[in-house]
Amino acid sequence: MEILSFFSNSWFLPISLLVFLPYIFIYTIRRKSSIKLPPGPQRLPIIGNLHQVLGSEGIHQTLWNLSQKYGPAMLVRFGSQPFLIISSSEMAVEVLKTHDQKLCTRPYTESGKRLSFNHMDVAFAPHGDHWRDMRKVLVSEFLGAKRIRLYKNVMESEMESLTRSISLHSLNTTINLEDVILSLVYDVVCKTTFGKSYKGEKFNGRTLKEIVDETLVTTGASFSAIFPTFGWILDELTGWNRRVEKCFTDLDCFLQRVLDDHPDRNETKSTDDQPMDFIDDCKSRLTSDELKALVMNVLEGALDTSTITTVWAISEIVRNPRIMLKLQNEIRSCVGSRKSSVNESDVAKMTYLKMVVKETLRLHPPAAFLMGRECTSPCQIGGFDVLPGTKLMVTAWGIGRDPRIWKENPTEFRPERFENMEGDKNFEMIPFGGGRRACPGTNMATSTIEFVIANLLYFFNWKIPGGVKNEDLDMKLYGFPFLRRTTPLCLVPTKHIWQD
Ligand code: HEM
Ligand SMILES: *[C@@H]1O[C@H](CO)[C@@H](O)[C@H](O)[C@H]1NC(C)=O
Ligand SMILES: *[C@@H]1O[C@H](CO)[C@@H](O)[C@H](O)[C@H]1NC(C)=O
Ligand SMILES: *[C@@H]1O[C@H](CO)[C@@H](O)[C@H](O)[C@H]1NC(C)=O
Ligand SMILES: *[C@@H]1O[C@H](CO)[C@@H](O)[C@H](O)[C@H]1NC(C)=O
Repeated sequence: MEILSFFSNSWFLPISLLVFLPYIFIYTIRRKSSIKLPPGPQRLPIIGNLHQVLGSEGIHQTLWNLSQKYGPAMLVRFGSQPFLIISSSEMAVEVLKTHDQKLCTRPYTESGKRLSFNHMDVAFAPHGDHWRDMRKVLVSEFLGAKRIRLYKNVMESEMESLTRSISLHSLNTTINLEDVILSLVYDVVCKTTFGKSYKGEKFNGRTLKEIVDETLVTTGASFSAIFPTFGWILDELTGWNRRVEKCFTDLDCFLQRVLDDHPDRNETKSTDDQPMDFIDDCKSRLTSDELKALVMNVLEGALDTSTITTVWAISEIVRNPRIMLKLQNEIRSCVGSRKSSVNESDVAKMTYLKMVVKETLRLHPPAAFLMGRECTSPCQIGGFDVLPGTKLMVTAWGIGRDPRIWKENPTEFRPERFENMEGDKNFEMIPFGGGRRACPGTNMATSTIEFVIANLLYFFNWKIPGGVKNEDLDMKLYGFPFLRRTTPLCLVPTKHIWQD
């Protein structure tokens, strides 16, 4: 009652108009005139700038070239959707640090939602409490001390059987290193996550690897993501929706099998032969959709990324005989001669190896762009306005080879450049992203890559088959979301002969 009489007071309206009118006025003016959008190339109706980025050199290259012209914060449109392309470390700091909170949700896609069991996961889930809880579970249960111990044990034994198998069967013959490393990483990740590798088994007619490859493709893009009004028709007509649905069914079939293979167990029942895996430890705490979604993230996040990086590292090592020699000397002196295995504590001492891996992640980040982000409230990047709904693509590939930061021959592979560099706190390279959404698997990934390289180079020397000089190794790349080698990395191992 009091309030009503307050409003009906005769002086209320004039006074409030007097007070608020200037604000309303300023607000409308500002909205009209002073929004300063980031610069970008001219666009066509309907498709926006799509025609400019679909070149044969890959979207990472075309967007990088465009950003040299329009600047490190560049606005383009794919279909009707605005995308802010970030291509310098100064801008990356603003996105991943200064305004991280306003820019850390993920863009919505139908397929991302479907394949993450309705956003029950970490990677595709919108920013919010559920994402935070799931990320905590992933960090403590999958990347915590207990699981890392198991991971390392499994890794050491799988690696030993791999080097033994190469020594017995593959010396002096050509092997496809990508296949070998991928299979190793699969075995290790699967055994720590589900207790077994499911190698050779099929789910709805597909192997686990085929299912993971397909999820990588289908979570990537769709017409409806860039044409919200009519894209769904194209997704339907082109069969995209059916493909996503088939992918989901296969993935779910696999994951349900994994859950069914895990009757309730607890610490008292676990044995050395069958230690508690990730599923055992989380089963009582998470719903089955949450558990499936987390496992999907691990499969999508850990396998190809670690493998591709290792393959790029070995490619660069083989192509640079000086680096190969220096690295092998370090590895062999840290391990000592005639050992039957290389273990984690040996690898911890290898400082040059760490620089080699870092240099690889600088020049060949497997993900050319960080995972998509979306602006949720207005902010300014590089002095330009970014409006809610704008999607962000941050080019890890471009930033790692930016001549303004990496002054001495940015495209040359030279691990020594890290000798006098202190960390990468200023986002000079961002293979794992940064801020709230940064990759939680950074340490696990780097130690995996280091360990595999140390082993393969301790026991063997590597040559390109067919008399091609090592320096002439082809380094062409392709692909999205991951930048892979165009030609498989096929090399011939010979056994290292100890001289002393
Ligand atoms: C060389 C190996 C790897 C690379 C280069 C890599 C790279 C990345 C990048 C660039 C992002 C997006 C960061 C951002 O948006 O700012 C990411 C996110 C993520 N990665 Fe990795 N990753 C690697 C290995 C792993 C491993 C081993 C795991 C295992 C658990 C993992 C799990 C994840 C997850 C769950 C996310 C989503 C995080 C979130 O949205 O909160 N990654 N990774
Ligand atoms: C990008 O720029 C480089 C050097 O300026 C040029 O060689 C290359 O062809 C360009 N690529 C694209 C896709 O525009
Ligand atoms: C591989 O080749 C080297 C040198 O040509 C030779 O000494 C060695 O016996 C060969 N090893 C096998 C297993 O064929
Ligand atoms: C583990 O399971 C056994 C039987 O299923 C039960 O008796 C025991 O109390 C459980 N232990 C814990 C720590 O939950
Ligand atoms: C690793 O290997 C070295 C030498 O082979 C050995 O001295 C050391 O005890 C091993 N460390 C572990 C943790 O097994």
